[in-house]
This record gives sequence, structure tokens and C-alpha cells, in this order.
Amino acid sequence: MDRALYGPGGFYRRELPRHHFSTSAQTPVFAEAVARLADAVDAGLGRPEAFEVVDVGAGNGELIGHLDSLLDERARLTAVELRPKPGDLPERVNWQSHLPDRVVGLVVACELLDNVPCDVAVVDPEGGLRYEEVDEHGETRPGGPVDDADAKWLDEWWPLPEPGRRAEIGRPRERMWEALTGRVASGTALAIDYGHTRADRPEAGSMSGFRGGGTVRPVPDGSCDITAHVAVDALGSDRLVTQREALRDLGLPVERPPLSLAYRDPTRYAVDLARASASARLTDPGGLGAHWWILSSPVA
Ligand SMILES: C[S@@+](CC[C@H](N)C(=O)[O-])C[C@H]1O[C@@H](n2cnc3c(N)ncnc32)[C@H](O)[C@@H]1O
Repeated sequence: MDRALYGPGGFYRRELPRHHFSTSAQTPVFAEAVARLADAVDAGLGRPEAFEVVDVGAGNGELIGHLDSLLDERARLTAVELRPKPGDLPERVNWQSHLPDRVVGLVVACELLDNVPCDVAVVDPEGGLRYEEVDEHGETRPGGPVDDADAKWLDEWWPLPEPGRRAEIGRPRERMWEALTGRVASGTALAIDYGHTRADRPEAGSMSGFRGGGTVRPVPDGSCDITAHVAVDALGSDRLVTQREALRDLGLPVERPPLSLAYRDPTRYAVDLARASASARLTDPGGLGAHWWILSSPVA
């Protein structure tokens, strides 16, 4: 997964996420909600001089670009991304490949954790826990035994009771989340992602591939995105809510404009209607609205 996504010629070395799938961060109205959260964090910190918003795994910079027009000049804007800075982003956006050491403000990571490479565990016919190996054609076979630390994680978070069951081992995602929260000197870290909790772990795991807007077999040859949902309850957070709930608290969904506006001001009507339908997509309980918002506000 690591090589296929981030190695030489890997999927994310070549491809733009938005050419293959839609995320919340690509939608301007989502940035409005993040800007409202940033404002609340800023107010809670007493509007410090060095307030910063950091978007980790920024993709093509859609979210940070929208935030540029929504947040006042005092806010420093930083994107952390392995890809180069897109040419159309404002100069104000600081673009780098590593996390800042210390953040006073808001750290956001939208659909980053599901792309953090992880191992898959399977149960062999004797009931032993083994890593699943995969070749470049996508063929799988049981590999060596799972080590003690991973076995302990599986036992606590995702027990596999019988042969044929699979689980994605969440420890690398926890390390990434610790890295994100660990950089917050004061403020809030927010990850937004596909996920599951103990109540609804997928029995056969969730690893899948995406290419060109559709689901494909997760063949690790660099030809597709490879993703696995996040065991969100194992991350350790202060607040875990669905995107639908989080956005409602931040003032979304926005209402459809009245039809009478179409006669008075057709352009305004078209803009407001587009906002309302984007907001309906972001809060759809069967789609993006079911994503998790994982929030922590570390106390220094
Ligand atoms: C699924 S895309 C999400 C992009 C964007 N946040 C969005 O929601 O549209 C994941 C992005 O995370 C980036 N990424 C993965 N690991 C990273 C890391 N360790 N540091 C910085 N960026 C990373 C990838 O290059 C990719 O652009």
C-alpha cells in the first residue's frame, strides 16, 4: 500500500484526488464550515497573533484555497502535502511536505487517515492470526504471524473470531493522529474520514480501490487509490461525531433558496441553489454525512 500510493510512480505521486473521487474538502461550502470552526477555535484561544490553520494531506489545495478567501489576514495558512504546490494557489498559502513543529490554531486532515498504509490481518484455518500478503496482480495469501503489538491491537479493537475474517490494523493511523494532535500546542486537531467503530466493523475488512470515479480491485501497482476505512474509536479523541451532526452544529445544511429569488435575481438564485445542493451532499446520511469528525483539543 505504501509503495503503491507513495513510492516512485505511486498513485499519489502522479494523480490528483479530484480526478478520481469527490471529497468534502473539494466543496466550497465545506470550507465555510471549517472556517466557522477555525473562528470558534481562534475565539477560544483569545485571537492570538500567531493563529494558524494547517491542512494536512491537502491534495490539490482546494480547502486551503477556499479558506484563503474566508479567513482574515491574521490567520496563517499552511498546507502539508507530498505533491508540489498548485500554481493557482495564493502566495499567502505556505506549502510544505512536513508537519509544522508547533501549531497554535486548527490542524485539519480530510481523508488522510484512510490513505495511511496499514497491514491486513487474516485468520488461518488453525485460528492463527497472519498478515495478508498481496502481489502486484492483487492475488492474496496468508503470510507470517502477526507480531505481539498488532495482535494486542486486534484483540482490543478488532477481534477476529474465525477463519476467513479480515481486519485492517489501525496502529499506523493512530501514529498519524498522534503526530497531528502532538503538533497542536494550543487549539484543535480535526480528522475527517470514512470509518467504523466496535459496533460496526466490516467483517471482511474495507480495503478497496478507486480509479476514475469508480470502485476497483485494490491492486497495489500504483494504478489506483487504495484506501481502508479508519477504526475511529481506537484513535483516542475528545469528540467523535458524524459529519452530518458536526456540520449541523456549524450551521449546515443551508436551505434551498425560495423560487421567487429566481425571478428577482437569477444569478443569486443559481449560486444559492448550488450551495444548498452541495450542502445536502455533505450531510447526506448515506454518503459524506456518515463520515466521522474526530476532534481533539490537547491541553499544553
Ligand atoms: C485522499 S487525498 C485527500 C486530499 C484532500 N484532503 C481532500 O480531501 O480532497 C490524500 C492526500 O494526502 C496526501 N498525503 C498522504 N500522506 C501524506 C503525508 N504523510 N504527508 C503529506 N501528505 C500526505 C496524499 O498525497 C493525497 O494528496
